[in-house]
Amino acid sequence: MNVNYNRYVSLMRKISDINGSMAVLSWDQEVYMPAKGAEIRAQQVATLSGIAHELFVGNEVGDLLELLSKDDSLDVHQKKNISETLYDYTRRKKYSTEFVMKLSECTSQAFQAWSKAKNTSDFSLFAPHLKKVVQLKREECELLGYESHPYNALLDLYERGAKVADLDILFNDVKSQLLPFIKQIAEQPKIDSAFLFKHYDKDKQWAFGIDCLKQMNYDFESGRQDISSHPFTISFNPNDVRVTTRVNENDFREMIWSCIHEGGHALYEQGLKIENYGLPSGEAISLGIHESQSRLWENNVGRSLAYWKCNYPQLQTIFPDHFGKVSLADFYRAINMVEPSFIRTSADELTYHFHVMIRYEIEKSLIEGSIEVEDLPRIWNENYKKYLLIDVPSHKMGILQDVHWSHGGFGYFPTYSLGSFYAAQFFAKAKNHLPELEQMIEHGNFKPLLQWLRENIHQYGRFYTAEELCTKVTGEKLNFRHFMDYAKAKFSNIYNL
Ligand code: CO
Repeated sequence: MNVNYNRYVSLMRKISDINGSMAVLSWDQEVYMPAKGAEIRAQQVATLSGIAHELFVGNEVGDLLELLSKDDSLDVHQKKNISETLYDYTRRKKYSTEFVMKLSECTSQAFQAWSKAKNTSDFSLFAPHLKKVVQLKREECELLGYESHPYNALLDLYERGAKVADLDILFNDVKSQLLPFIKQIAEQPKIDSAFLFKHYDKDKQWAFGIDCLKQMNYDFESGRQDISSHPFTISFNPNDVRVTTRVNENDFREMIWSCIHEGGHALYEQGLKIENYGLPSGEAISLGIHESQSRLWENNVGRSLAYWKCNYPQLQTIFPDHFGKVSLADFYRAINMVEPSFIRTSADELTYHFHVMIRYEIEKSLIEGSIEVEDLPRIWNENYKKYLLIDVPSHKMGILQDVHWSHGGFGYFPTYSLGSFYAAQFFAKAKNHLPELEQMIEHGNFKPLLQWLRENIHQYGRFYTAEELCTKVTGEKLNFRHFMDYAKAKFSNIYNL
């Protein structure tokens, strides 16, 4: 046994124990904590976060990594863990304590200002804070270093290896291929979806959501579902991965697809190997790959005809007054209605990507300095008019709708679209490997699909990069064609094109 490697593993696990404990506290904060608990809880989380950080950037880890990165006796998996940890370590070391504190102070004030600005729909309350955040983010790019474009440094934080040059090509494809298709759809008769907005009993929805998670093979012995104001998935380790959802009694869509979406994230986390706990090989690759797992279940599976052939009869029994007289075909069309709207989080599968593209272009330009914060409301509204053909009625429904920028989360948005595009590419390959997949879904048999995802994606952790994994699984790197093929086949049928 390699003494140094064992020492490395035990240190990494110690850090994960602290991170996992922090996660439990954060979960509790969103799910159960009383309002007055907030102040001390923030302090507790900050303390643990400081301890984990010190442990990670301390000399012991640094010395071990130096020794182990020259150690030829390690096997290929061990070497990969060391090189990944060294990457994380080197990046973390680039941040001075002073910069971290400045950013954290600035973003906590920006968040408060954003909440107020959003409530009153007044961008001028947020603008001065956003300016400071952007300034610090520009500094962060310099501190991290980059090639070609400063925004690449920020993309790397969420989607390692993602580059402006590639994303520009991708979003140009979105403009040149998806936009004309959406315009074609817009010329078709409107789909009637009014029945989705009747009153749906909360408890009945909840019970149906739990059944959907069970059907996906989400393991309730390694997880649980609770209610929170924003749905999320959180992992303490692969044997304890929790999801939350919210129930809207006046919009049937909200609970069910957020449930399936978070379930998809959770299946990924539950599929990481417990023996790799604490190590890069026990961690998810990137936000884009994570999102590919949630979107695959939410859209490619959960909004498919096969899925509802299986589940619609039960839904009709639970809500006979709502769905008793609605045919499966009409239900399927209603849940897949394409219609430009203001709010990203409730957008349909197709128009969604224009919400992301608009944010991507704004972030890129802000970071490179070709636009300034004052220009944002105008640019936002012009782009919504140009690509989604709608007039934004207020800043609350426009530039102020997302929390991300107040947190300093520049570089995050593109991962949402990457997730859908990876999902389409993976799902096409899964269908190839499992020719009976559609029939399996129709019969509620999701085990083969989950098995396929486990074998091809989940089990590897960070052993491969996103691009390597995609190439290994599908034979090519990310290619927008797969999403477009999926969209055309599905929506041409729905809209009789
Ligand atoms: Co997600």
